[in-house]
Amino acid sequence: MNVVIIGVGAMGCLFGAFLSPLTPVTLLGRWPEQLAALAQDGLTVVEVDGRSSRHQLWATNNPPAIPPADLALILVKSGQTAQAAQTIQPILKPDGLALTLQNGLGNLEKLTAVLGANRAVLGITAQGATMLEPGKIRHAGHGPTHLAYTPETERRVTAVANLFNQAGLQTELADNVDSLVWAKLAVNCGINPLTALLGVPNGFLTENESAKQIMMAAARETAIVAQSLGITLPYPDAGKRALQVAQATAANHSSMLQDIQRGAPTEIEAICGAVVSNGRKTGIPTPINAELYRMIKLQETGAWKLDIEKTLTSLQPLVSNLNTGGKT
Ligand code: PAF
Repeated sequence: MNVVIIGVGAMGCLFGAFLSPLTPVTLLGRWPEQLAALAQDGLTVVEVDGRSSRHQLWATNNPPAIPPADLALILVKSGQTAQAAQTIQPILKPDGLALTLQNGLGNLEKLTAVLGANRAVLGITAQGATMLEPGKIRHAGHGPTHLAYTPETERRVTAVANLFNQAGLQTELADNVDSLVWAKLAVNCGINPLTALLGVPNGFLTENESAKQIMMAAARETAIVAQSLGITLPYPDAGKRALQVAQATAANHSSMLQDIQRGAPTEIEAICGAVVSNGRKTGIPTPINAELYRMIKLQETGAWKLDIEKTLTSLQPLVSNLNTGGKT
């Protein structure tokens, strides 16, 4: 199976490191320092316990250099998905699959619009990675990957799942896309904006009581919106699920924190923004997601400064309000 990975960030590199011993893999990206480091020294993957491994990965910024692909793994930021779909259109074989493992809502739709429903599929992964420096990542989160399939894509998605499992990435098939996407979204709404605003690793949200409550409330608010759309999540309590993921990825700097730290646009539109706009459609108030959205937008422009106490103090009343059903 010829694999192309779109995106040379931490997650693209992590999947490249797992898959490249088994099958030809090309990474496609534009980050010059990363491409230079990978070409010169390869990729170093540091595990949470300190062990590290080296991997030779082939990465390029030149789409015509990439052989026809059976599988395109989409691991760019959600704001770049439409562009990624255009880029892989001439590379992906007629019966190839583009698989999004990104955060947020709307990525599958953007791939489908360009590649067709027969070639666009979606998965979610509990794997987590942090970029340490060009050519070096920390493998900071372990957990299953779920791939959604339709009758048309089932055979090819099964082949991808088999490849992932052989590579050591525990993978299962799932037939309910919406449940999968919203399950991940609830976790991302809980963890990503708050870690970015506080400038802390995910584990902080499990240790600080106020941060923990805000994380759990944001995830639960997202689950209520999902419910209003008729979507049942695969776990009973989204707040507890966010807590478990934050524990399992305690050392990780969430992707949104990493975006803020390198001055890049975040995925807040596809995460809290998507929850707020869906809540509006079904008449569900989303005060916590709306406030996290507002604060991240300010932080992106440099107008919200890092201040743990101030951030927690301004978000905490929204949680108390939610817990008392608005009767404070
Ligand atoms: O975006 C992220 O960082 C990840 O989806 C997660 C699971 C929150 C772990 O950091």
